[in-house]
Amino acid sequence: MSALPDDFIREIEAVVGAVGMVCDAERMQSYLSDWRNAYRGEAALVVRPASTEEVAAVVRLCNQYEIALVPQGGNTGLCGGSIPDASGTQVVLSLTRMTGIREVDTENETITVEAGAILQTVQEAAAEVGRLFPLSLGAEGSCTVGGNLATNAGGTAVLRYGNMRDLTLGLEVVLPDGQIWNGLRGLRKDNTGYDLKHLFIGSEGTLGIITAAVLKLYPAVRSVTTAWVALPSAHAAVQLIGIIRGLCGDRLTGFELMSRLSVDFVLRHVGACSDPFTETHPWYVLIELSDTQPDAPLNELLEQGLGGALERGLVTDAVLASSEAQVAALWAMREGISEAQNHEGPSLKHDISVPVSCIPAFIQTTDQRLLDQFAGVRIVAYGHVGDGNLHYNVSKPVGSDDTAFKAQQDAIMHVIYEATTRFQGSISAEHGLGQAKRAAAKHYKDPLELALMRAIKTTLDPKGLMNPGKVL
Ligand code: FAD
Ligand code: MLT
Ligand code: ZN
Repeated sequence: MSALPDDFIREIEAVVGAVGMVCDAERMQSYLSDWRNAYRGEAALVVRPASTEEVAAVVRLCNQYEIALVPQGGNTGLCGGSIPDASGTQVVLSLTRMTGIREVDTENETITVEAGAILQTVQEAAAEVGRLFPLSLGAEGSCTVGGNLATNAGGTAVLRYGNMRDLTLGLEVVLPDGQIWNGLRGLRKDNTGYDLKHLFIGSEGTLGIITAAVLKLYPAVRSVTTAWVALPSAHAAVQLIGIIRGLCGDRLTGFELMSRLSVDFVLRHVGACSDPFTETHPWYVLIELSDTQPDAPLNELLEQGLGGALERGLVTDAVLASSEAQVAALWAMREGISEAQNHEGPSLKHDISVPVSCIPAFIQTTDQRLLDQFAGVRIVAYGHVGDGNLHYNVSKPVGSDDTAFKAQQDAIMHVIYEATTRFQGSISAEHGLGQAKRAAAKHYKDPLELALMRAIKTTLDPKGLMNPGKVL
């Protein structure tokens, strides 16, 4: 029997029709757990509105009947933000029917898209008019623009183009009482008071439902060079990024760090990946340079930078991709780490950030502490080193008991977050707090910042119906 009042269900059906509702338990399953199966919940109903007006009407009804809502996009988030709680009383509001590209304005260099549009579709729409939409991440074939906005997603091109916050000019949002805020302005300058869009970007569905956005476009890239580089240490990676950036400036678009264990996992579990080198090395970086000019001398620039670094002992080996297939193969090694780690049993995922200069010391001291206290744990460190953002993940010791490892979860997390705090870092650089890091945020975030966040939440959502149990 549904936990929802019959009148509510009837009124929802009048708004979205039967096609916009998922009621039966079997069809609901894919909305109730994440792809890693790390979080699972129950829902009274999944609603799939097809327009902003329908979203607004659904939200108004939830407000009237005091029913909690969980916004959901592609459900690729990594901290349980889009998964309902276990009560079976919440309604999942899926944006996946709102996939429209509303406008492409090549003179204003903007694209206006609905929240359920898949990121890759937006990249393709930009490419069709000779432009680039630069947000790029492993889940781009299934995550949505709404989810990217709600988590302020980062990815592999932040170094050059910034994160989702930097790529957004305007938003359309359905507020918790059902009002529609039309902030779909394509302005690069607007100083008429508080910049409200930034409240909703990164709010993980706790302040309203994002229904559309005006995003920035950039000139299409016409030359790309990609290299796979072996290094003796993480410190060498930090020094190398300085050298390459000094030489190439904004042409440096990707600089991804990977430990040997991360690469081992991919080689073991992701089909068709092979090690570009015959010898193993402790660390690797994947470097991407790009330019809007065709035939830009990127290989020469990169060879110059790597050659100098080789002489200084910062680089031990390097290979430049010589075909599109090789470029794809190198990126597959990097993007495959998440999936590969899943095959190695339970793991704790982290997306911490510290100042770039502190990355080597962070890794050294945290590795030491973890290995001293939790014998055999496997540290799978990789990520967007140019942003100071590491996926400092921990997989269970080989052959150990899953439950025993999970019981150590909080203690392991504590060691990592204490170190992050010591280096004046953040416990979440890109995935958000969701339900995974909600308790930790209470401990590690500044109390005044938390109080201000609570005040904003109460003002916008006094009944606490927007994604309760997440973030705050
Ligand atoms: P969901 O998972 O559905 O939701 C995420 C959060 O946003 C939830 O709190 C949800 O309630 C809220 N939300 C969703 N849509 C809306 C909306 N319209 N209005 C309000 N709230 C909403 N992230 C990075 O930042 N960088 C990476 O490099 C990266 N790599 C990834 C690689 C893989 C293989 C995977 C699986 C994930 C990766 N992620 C990465 C995680 C990332 O957060 C998501 O992939 C993406 O941004 C989430 O989009 P989504 O549509 O799947 O959102
Ligand atoms: C990535 O950069 O690959 C994802 O953000 C990290 C992850 O899956 O942990
Ligand atoms: Zn990442």
